[in-house]
Amino acid sequence: KTRIEKIDRTAIDRTVIEEAGKILKEGGLVAFPTETVYGLGANALDEEAAKKTYAAKGRPSDNPLIVHIAEKEALYDIIEEIPEDTAKIADRFWPGPLTMIFRKSEKVPYGTTGGLDTVAVRMPDDEIARELIRAGGGYVSAPSANTSGRPSPTMAQHVAEDLDGKIDMILDGGSVNIGVESTILDMTSVPPVILRPGAVTKEMLEEVVGEVDIDKTILSDDSTQIPKAPGMKYRHYAPKAQMVLIEGDPFDAVRAIKQLTYDKVKFGKKENGEPYRIGIIATAETMKDYTYGIVKSIGSRENRKTITKNLYGVLREFDEENVDIIYSEAFSGEEIDAAIMNRLAKAAGHKIIPASEIVKLQPY
Ligand code: TXA
Ligand code: MG
Repeated sequence: KTRIEKIDRTAIDRTVIEEAGKILKEGGLVAFPTETVYGLGANALDEEAAKKTYAAKGRPSDNPLIVHIAEKEALYDIIEEIPEDTAKIADRFWPGPLTMIFRKSEKVPYGTTGGLDTVAVRMPDDEIARELIRAGGGYVSAPSANTSGRPSPTMAQHVAEDLDGKIDMILDGGSVNIGVESTILDMTSVPPVILRPGAVTKEMLEEVVGEVDIDKTILSDDSTQIPKAPGMKYRHYAPKAQMVLIEGDPFDAVRAIKQLTYDKVKFGKKENGEPYRIGIIATAETMKDYTYGIVKSIGSRENRKTITKNLYGVLREFDEENVDIIYSEAFSGEEIDAAIMNRLAKAAGHKIIPASEIVKLQPY
């Protein structure tokens, strides 16, 4: 049975934190909020605890975990070499949504790093998370607290949906602030390489360290490329329905999605004779333009923060709607769009169609 404890970020209950920390020290699993997504916490220095983490998530054990720390100084005990720009980057972005990869020290077991000689480290910007890390011994491994292959959890209820009965405790700190996972930066390369885009953008990093590369496998679905972050090779964040991303400016995308939806609803039938159920991922600005389908707003184009915040929640909602196909608008033009599109493209299994291809075939 999983204990669920509500916790108030502005008045953190010490007793609950101490109890949660004790569970971690004894090798148990505690889910907790961070500013990005909820994490599934375990003692990062305990190989057996890592095994339990993989089992609870149903995650392949070659997919390494991120070690979470509560103070910057804790980093130097678990890494072997310290790349030149480490302190500069940590001072600018920690605590925050940035994970850095280093050569690991002997202290970190291979169970935590999926057999790799490197370790991913992050200091989260959430007081509940940091208090839990301190109470749990200072090093807490935490993958996103979802079942492997489901959208990452952005509230405690999502964690319960996936992991109730499989973990010891969930700390419910309400909805997260950002909603997409941290940026992952491989510090073992020169220049450093972004392995997963997040709220700390390439441009923000370049302001601090000059040149930063982006791993090629992030942008494509090219299966001949071996991803540097093992987790990126799995079809993550996948909704149950088939999903297609429609690229192009919002005006064209709305026309294209309306056309596709109309064709399916009016002329399409499933194998069993039933009509298609179509989901549409729209925005606050375009929602009212759609006539058919189950339309959900992912947020406002005017405020991209609302989009990262709602992204995984909307994918989960569509899982419950039992739709057959989801058409989604796309995002381009702002720095954070790399992170947004990375998640949407993965959910769509990289099925991306330019709006112009559809509207040019069938003009209104
Ligand atoms: O925002 C986040 O990072 C959240 C919260 C809970 O902190 N955590 C998270 O963890 O997203 P997870 O396990 O869902 O994703 C970690 C990713 C995986 O793709 C994994 O392959 C990669 O980080 N990773 C971890 N250690 C690595 C390493 N040593 N080398 C390369 N990639 C690594
Ligand atoms: Mg994950």
